[in-house]
Amino acid sequence: MKALILCGGMGSRLWPVTLSIQKQLIPIANKPILFYIIDSLVEANIVDIGILSNQKEEIFNRALSFYEKREKIKYTYIDQDKPIGLANAVVSARGFIGDEKFIMILGDNIYQFSLKKFLDKFNSEKVNCSILLKEVENPSQFGVADVLNGKIVDLVEKPKNPPTNLAITGIYAFDSNIFKACENIKPSWRGEYEITDAIKWLLDNNYSVTYDILEGEWKDLGGPEDILKENMNKLIDIENNVSGEIISTNITGKIVLGKDSKIINSIIRGPVSIGDGVMIQNSYIGPYTSLGNNVSISNCQIENSIILDESNISNIDSIIDSSIVEKGSVIKKSTQLRKVNSFLLAKNSLVIVD
Ligand code: DAU
Repeated sequence: MKALILCGGMGSRLWPVTLSIQKQLIPIANKPILFYIIDSLVEANIVDIGILSNQKEEIFNRALSFYEKREKIKYTYIDQDKPIGLANAVVSARGFIGDEKFIMILGDNIYQFSLKKFLDKFNSEKVNCSILLKEVENPSQFGVADVLNGKIVDLVEKPKNPPTNLAITGIYAFDSNIFKACENIKPSWRGEYEITDAIKWLLDNNYSVTYDILEGEWKDLGGPEDILKENMNKLIDIENNVSGEIISTNITGKIVLGKDSKIINSIIRGPVSIGDGVMIQNSYIGPYTSLGNNVSISNCQIENSIILDESNISNIDSIIDSSIVEKGSVIKKSTQLRKVNSFLLAKNSLVIVD
């Protein structure tokens, strides 16, 4: 069976971070979101994986080449011209899928759930489509299923008055009839070709659509607060693993410290994940912080944040909290006599100063 992971879209709720890194490659506890999905597929013995996007093919290739060395996975890159909806994404992947059954997963979804069980059931029931539903408190923000006597009777995308609180999660199993469905729908009120409408088309045209309830954890990572919360959740589960050097430093809680990293004269309160080649001096790194590779921190206090590779943060008096800092950023104290703030920011940056 093949898998299709959708990694297109604008990631606009995470601008400007997603102007230079695809949302699906943002690291959570130092591992890109996309890699959690790939791991779950490999666990279900699915290694023929199509990754669809509408930008930055070379970034994907670079990130995935790391992973290719670790697993026997065959990746295919699929281009979607414009991010005009999930049903359009499916049509764009037709060449890769052919006439096979396949699983489709949204690249910004994180879950703890056995895909194997879901797919075994899909294959043995011989249905045309199966979706995973999850009870949520805010169904209006999702596609929603109306279910009667164990059968789906209606599906509606982001309804104002949801018929149930059963959200459609971003994990779908299809046979090739979905292509016909995707070609027969019109754009929704938000101008997108909705996969929810395509599945409803299957339902309305007497194809079989079943569902399972996703009992484990499931998150749709939309904005910065979702990313930081998931970073916290994943860090809670890390195991102590120290390769680097620790000198005159007080450590409590769990810590991952990569090779060639050094912590000098600092305080670390885990859980904290620190990549390779990182230098931390005279600083406090508090719970739920992830530092990427080759980050440098001195005379700072940081907690509940994600700092990506090669960033350099020094001599900041106030605590840096709930922040996402993209690769190669520099945050430092002004050396001028006057008390000044000086910025060099990208489009849609957000700076909150004390
Ligand atoms: O997360 C679950 C929800 O995902 C479902 O409940 C909805 O029914 C479904 O429509 C979808 O809604 P979202 O509004 O959250 O979808 P979003 O635009 O965030 O896109 C989801 C993923 O698909 C994301 O990784 C980007 C990618 N994508 C999106 C579009 C619009 C593409 O690859 N191509 C696209 O054209």
